[in-house]
Amino acid sequence: MIITAWSAGHDGPAKALRGRDGSECLMSGRTNGMSTVDTLRFDGRRLHLLDQRVLPAQVRELSLDDAPAVAAAIRDMVVRGAPAIGVAAAYGAALSVAAHAGSTGWRERVERDLQTLEQSRPTAVNLGWAVRRVRALLDTAPPDPAAAVRALAESIHAADVAANRRMGEMGAALIDTRCQVLTHCNAGALATAGYGTALGVIRSAWSQGKIERVLADETRPWLQGARLTAWELLRDGIPVSLIADGAATWAMRQGLVRWVIVGADRIAANGDVANKIGTYALAVSARHHGVRFMVAAPTSTIDPQCADGDAIPIEQRAADELLGLSGQRHAAEGADAWNPVFDVTPAALVDALVTEKGVVERPDRDKIAALLATS
Ligand code: MRU
Repeated sequence: MIITAWSAGHDGPAKALRGRDGSECLMSGRTNGMSTVDTLRFDGRRLHLLDQRVLPAQVRELSLDDAPAVAAAIRDMVVRGAPAIGVAAAYGAALSVAAHAGSTGWRERVERDLQTLEQSRPTAVNLGWAVRRVRALLDTAPPDPAAAVRALAESIHAADVAANRRMGEMGAALIDTRCQVLTHCNAGALATAGYGTALGVIRSAWSQGKIERVLADETRPWLQGARLTAWELLRDGIPVSLIADGAATWAMRQGLVRWVIVGADRIAANGDVANKIGTYALAVSARHHGVRFMVAAPTSTIDPQCADGDAIPIEQRAADELLGLSGQRHAAEGADAWNPVFDVTPAALVDALVTEKGVVERPDRDKIAALLATS
């Protein structure tokens, strides 16, 4: 593994950063005044990941050259967010096939890597979805398996960015008046192949003059809101105010929020939505206060095999993540912790599900089936 570090860029959030050798680094992409972040890029030999554990204090890239290292990076949150880990897994598979194809028993060795990738995090279905696509491709016995899997990974990568752009437009169209919106965790460029799902909607709505300010939950315990969402939005000049997770309901009560806009890690066949822990509480509060609740997610996040939210596996992470911060313990000595990192919002609390195939208002089993049946 190679680590490349850049300066933290304290000279202005929207400026491109420079590598030690003076080369421009990952933050240079701009479209329509909106910057994008290269969460991950593949050069054929290595997968380069922006290390999200240390943002925004450090801008550091890890370069990985085998599938087990990619699986470890997913497990350890170097790369996170459902679509981003799906794309990373696809590139991890490409590395595995490139390393093993042609040798005796190579399919078994690749299969072991695919299983390691698949099991690196349990809730986001995009991971299994990407790995299943690689398996199905290998089952067709392509003449050059390494080239074929690399092309598949690149197409999954490109399709995710395109899907986010479409969702951005469709989600923004639902916002009928200039307003403040609230988001949770990070469902931005960092959580996807680019542009973002929930933050894609916010970016598009901002460019149409519809966003006054974004309230961002800090999102304990990994602080994806404080560290990542705030960083991304500031780079685009979108006003953002951080709030403690517990302040969201009070903000709604004060009339400060018109829409809650979030992403998803897995959506069941009946429209129940698994997303970062705390999302369910937001949905309950939103309905109570007449605030609209939008979920933006590509159809690769819908899992028709899960009949409803009860079938979605919920990741439990180490107690240490709650008992301290940045390696410093602050909880009372002897205290234990329960640390589920996702929850499930019942479909009935979702006003709009925005996908690249279209918007589903008040999703239910029939509407989800009809959505999946459209090409
Ligand atoms: O634990 P994380 O940071 O991977 O959780 C991410 C989320 O919950 C996101 O909201 C979700 O993956 C949607 S990302 C477009």
